Amino acid sequence: MLKIEELSYSYQDRQAVCGASFEVREGECLGLLGPNGAGKTTAISCMVGLLSAWQGAMFWHGEPFQPALQASDRGQLGFVPQEIALYANLTAEENLDLFGELNGLGKAERRKAVEKNLELAGLVDRQKDLVRTFSGGMQRRLNLAAGLMHSPSLVLLDEPTVGVDPQSRNHLFETLLQLKADGVSLLYTTHFMEEAQRLCDRIAIMNEGSVIAVGTPQELAEQSGEPESDLEKIFLKLTGRSLRDD
Ligand SMILES: Nc1ncnc2c1ncn2[C@@H]1O[C@H](COP(=O)(O)OP(=O)(O)OP(=O)(O)O)[C@@H](O)[C@H]1O
Ligand SMILES: [Mg+2]
Repeated sequence: MLKIEELSYSYQDRQAVCGASFEVREGECLGLLGPNGAGKTTAISCMVGLLSAWQGAMFWHGEPFQPALQASDRGQLGFVPQEIALYANLTAEENLDLFGELNGLGKAERRKAVEKNLELAGLVDRQKDLVRTFSGGMQRRLNLAAGLMHSPSLVLLDEPTVGVDPQSRNHLFETLLQLKADGVSLLYTTHFMEEAQRLCDRIAIMNEGSVIAVGTPQELAEQSGEPESDLEKIFLKLTGRSLRDD
């Protein structure tokens, strides 16, 4: 569905992504895992057109794809950023309406989508409240809902469950399971290995800007020579145990 070949990106003299290749297949959830600084957010930013000076190639349903240029195809993509991207001085309802408008939805479509996504975020009762009065978990839930307003067929999720209590995390996770059951394709970045194990059909492991292994959790365990290992053990074996504070 979306294929990334030899993607590279540098911030001035720091190479953040370095020849990374992977693909998200139709209907699957691909986990993009990697230590801090591995280049996951940078790669996703290239895929949604936030960074444009990348090298390599992208293909959307087999056709060459330049996200910064192709608004029509980019419209099929949903993006849930690692940093909360909401307007603090707008209400939940106004934020969702604005994201719908930015994604080209008409007024009637927006009204329906706002209702549906407030429900999905569990925020119907707080829809008239300003986002700056929301807890971290409520903001995370709305951040996810904002990325879904235009019913994308592939959603790129950059740590959507970080920094929230178990209740919100569970709510967010159930939403992702539901999206997957509805046939939406997902690229999912997380540091919670048990979430990745539960949700993802395949896992791509990134380290120092490159994808160093791709496969089902079972395949990765077999490749690592320890077929009984869980994902956390495999991850540490493949990416090493040293801290990544650059
Ligand atoms: N705006 C920036 N300017 C300069 N360097 C950056 C910038 N953003 C990221 N980097 C560097 O690029 C590399 C990759 O960072 P990136 O944020 O893509 O990693 P990540 O895998 O998303 O990490 P995390 O798990 O901590 O979110 C790191 O070395 C980081 O310091
Ligand atoms: Mg990141």
